[in-house]
Amino acid sequence: MAQIVLRPMVLPPDVAARNRPTHAGQFHAAVGADIVGGSIRPQPVPRLARWGPGMGVRRVTIRTVVFDAYGTLFDVEAAAREAGRSHPVLAECWPRLAADWRRKQLEYSWLRSIMRQHEDFEHLTADSLDWALEAQGIEDVALRRRLLDLYQALPVFPEVPALLDTLEARGVEKAILTNASPAMIGRSLTSAGIADRFAAVISVEVVGTYKPAPRVYDLVLERFALAPTDVLFVSSNGWDIAGAGANGFTTFWVNRGAAPVDRLPHRPKHIAADLSSLTDLLP
Ligand code: LAC
Repeated sequence: MAQIVLRPMVLPPDVAARNRPTHAGQFHAAVGADIVGGSIRPQPVPRLARWGPGMGVRRVTIRTVVFDAYGTLFDVEAAAREAGRSHPVLAECWPRLAADWRRKQLEYSWLRSIMRQHEDFEHLTADSLDWALEAQGIEDVALRRRLLDLYQALPVFPEVPALLDTLEARGVEKAILTNASPAMIGRSLTSAGIADRFAAVISVEVVGTYKPAPRVYDLVLERFALAPTDVLFVSSNGWDIAGAGANGFTTFWVNRGAAPVDRLPHRPKHIAADLSSLTDLLP
């Protein structure tokens, strides 16, 4: 079976100490992350990360790539963007609605986990949409239904089909670990025509709590009986990357918005602007 060999790029301590970062790409390098597929758009960063133990050069062999779903494979902004094309109010405010919808959806997942008040991700997606619509002063039952329907049929990011083909051609196993229920993720994958492309689609519903709870990431190891470092965990969510890193997975952060690295333990091992760069790691 073909394997992905990762070659992390790190700065030697003396270079890191001299090299005060002025933009996100340098900062990512300074914290030990490998910038894959070109530079990340400049962003101011507050300070230089300290060189630490475990940041030396090492090679990791990856047997399985595990993807987060929403925001990583699926473009979650597409529902509001699409509905905005035919709705006069949403035409103006869809970016704000999309951002609020996503932010509240995730907040509710974390808060319900802490509160031990689990409801499935579809329920949270509707609750967070209701919050976001009210925040925009929109009361429109038909629009709400349309947005929820569009969320069931989100497009994948443009580079996803080719990436799946390449991984398949190289014999690299692919899986999904998602907050969504099996029914919800099943509908999304079927609608995007990629339902049969994954060896496993793992839902948090098995444990009844959300990422980044450690027992969610354990589900991957139970399913594949792998060493954590043999798993490349791919997510567009910095907090998800931190959760996967805490479980020992090798991590690949898709930083589409050129955001700063989250100030959490277990920073990303690899950072790229989109998923296509993942193939740069293939030998
Ligand atoms: C998921 C959420 C985090 O797919 O987007 O798990």
